[in-house]
Amino acid sequence: MRIAVIPGDGIGKDVTAEAVKVLQAAGEAFGRRFDLVHLPWSADHYLKTGETLPANGYQMLRDEFQAIFVGALGDPRVPGNQHARDILLGTRFELDLYVNYRPVRLLDDRLCPLKNRGRQDVNFVVFRENTEGVYVSVGGRFKAGTPDEVAIQEEINTFKGVNRIIRHAFEYAKANGLTRVCMADKSNAMQQGHALWQRVYKEVAAEYPQITATHQYIDALAMFLVKDPGQYQVIVTNNLFGDIVTDIGGALQGGLGMAASGNIHPGKTSLFEPVHGSAPPLAGKNVANPMGAILSSALMLETLGAADEARAIERAVEAAISQNHTTSDIGGSLGTREVGDWIAKRIQK
Ligand code: NAD
Ligand code: IPM
Ligand code: MN
Repeated sequence: MRIAVIPGDGIGKDVTAEAVKVLQAAGEAFGRRFDLVHLPWSADHYLKTGETLPANGYQMLRDEFQAIFVGALGDPRVPGNQHARDILLGTRFELDLYVNYRPVRLLDDRLCPLKNRGRQDVNFVVFRENTEGVYVSVGGRFKAGTPDEVAIQEEINTFKGVNRIIRHAFEYAKANGLTRVCMADKSNAMQQGHALWQRVYKEVAAEYPQITATHQYIDALAMFLVKDPGQYQVIVTNNLFGDIVTDIGGALQGGLGMAASGNIHPGKTSLFEPVHGSAPPLAGKNVANPMGAILSSALMLETLGAADEARAIERAVEAAISQNHTTSDIGGSLGTREVGDWIAKRIQK
């Protein structure tokens, strides 16, 4: 399998090194060859060359690789975030990776930040629409930098985009024997764009009578995620709301360093990355938690059809947590590299 690896910036580099170590260990244990091709696209590369990614970059990712692994992008030296916009958001758009799949699964009761809650309460998935919403950057600034400045950023919702992510959520529930889907929007205030979400949700839900389809406004959902996360099995929402609630999801799993994600177009080259960012204050200090990145590599393998390898990685991460071979954000005393080493060594067929 040929996989593009983009470590990116900050702790993205630190955690990607560990995910690569674990992938290689899984390859060895299962006799499978992963051809990992590192690409330098990052803030450093942009500042040095003026290039975010090469002209044929998206085409190359799509045509020459089975999957893409990203660490994180974001650097204070690039305040406009142009490189992240091209490399990360650009790939989501250009490769049409419309499913942002973000499982929220607590791996050990000890990591739950909520009182009297545990693994049975934190076990759901979020499907975040990944190609539309406010992320499309349709809009502009008029009289920028003056007291008369006007800034417009439109939210785009299309039938195609809303329909395919909602349908994906129901199909996932059906395929996994789940019985509840919850859609979150802000249709009480956003009476145009989110009316489309309401319409499509009702239409699609009617095709799945065996699944209980509920709706919550996004503000209430954010509250219930903290108060009663056990009610959720599958959440589907738009691009921006999905971004925000999956950081809450990260916290429910023990911290942002634990959360994994896939940016997926079913059947096509897809991109996998931890949910967290480049955390500049932690960069290069051997303190970042690599588990979100390592679990993202497991999601990648699962999506590529290497389910046994994916399970083996997840088992090794769970063992590391239960035996406290972890970084300090989740209560351990090891460094990023030592956690990666331990998990890699633990991978068994
Ligand atoms: P962040 O996710 O980088 O970090 C927020 C805080 O979460 C950190 O200060 C740290 O306390 C904690 N944290 C995150 N990851 C951790 C880990 N692996 N181990 C331990 N603790 C961890 O968010 P931010 O500070 O808002 O953003 C920093 C930069 O990252 C920005 O440029 C932002 O745009 C970018 N970003 C990129 C991605 C991505 O590439 N997918 C995602 C989010 C943010
Ligand atoms: C994420 C990140 C990105 C997003 C940023 C870096 C643009 O926060 O993947 O969650 O908002 O999608
Ligand atoms: Mn985010």
